[in-house]
Amino acid sequence: MSRRRVAILISGRGSNMASLIEAARAPDYPAEIALVLSNRPDAEGLERARAAGIETLAIDHKAHATRESFEQALDSALRERGIEFICLAGFMRVLTDWFVESWAGRMINIHPSLLPLFRGIHTHRRALEEGVLVHGCTVHFVVPELDAGPIVAQAAVPVVPGDTEESLAKRILVQEHLLYPKALGLICSGRARLKAGRVVFSEGWDAGGALHSPH
Ligand code: GRF
Repeated sequence: MSRRRVAILISGRGSNMASLIEAARAPDYPAEIALVLSNRPDAEGLERARAAGIETLAIDHKAHATRESFEQALDSALRERGIEFICLAGFMRVLTDWFVESWAGRMINIHPSLLPLFRGIHTHRRALEEGVLVHGCTVHFVVPELDAGPIVAQAAVPVVPGDTEESLAKRILVQEHLLYPKALGLICSGRARLKAGRVVFSEGWDAGGALHSPH
């Protein structure tokens, strides 16, 4: 089995990155994490990746006069290392259309809401303000429009009385760590693929049951 060479782009603590690295340790996982790249040299996740024996690289956006020159540097670093696929995992730079289009169909992101609800930031705060009783996370392909690309996988999490932004974030993060490796695995094995702007799956799944909130 040939494993796809994946780079993870981070800006911070890298807990999703760690879950992808862990999943890719399995010999039958269809991707290898070949690089962890951060725009912040002090990102906590870089140390975690190094400790796991993964090549790391910091390309400081502040050292670049323009977004374009920063992204040229990113792009060259990825291509020089034969990277085939990108996972954004808490990468806090908005990418230009040029970069997104150069990696079209080969870049995914994890977002802490059930898209298309709550695109952008402060998703947990906004979910609480709206009073939704089911919230969650989404893995999606990246397109130029923010948090708008084809959906690969979602996990739904109940919102309960007394929840705060922190308690909700914590429960959703647990699901992110399960969902992201699953979604990357589906894509790299070819069981999920893009077709005419949607994700199509080679096999179905159990349609029974539902998450009721309250249950
Ligand atoms: C996660 O909540 C992810 O959904 C969002 O940014 C956060 C990154 O956390 N895109 P971590 O760096 O993976 O711990």
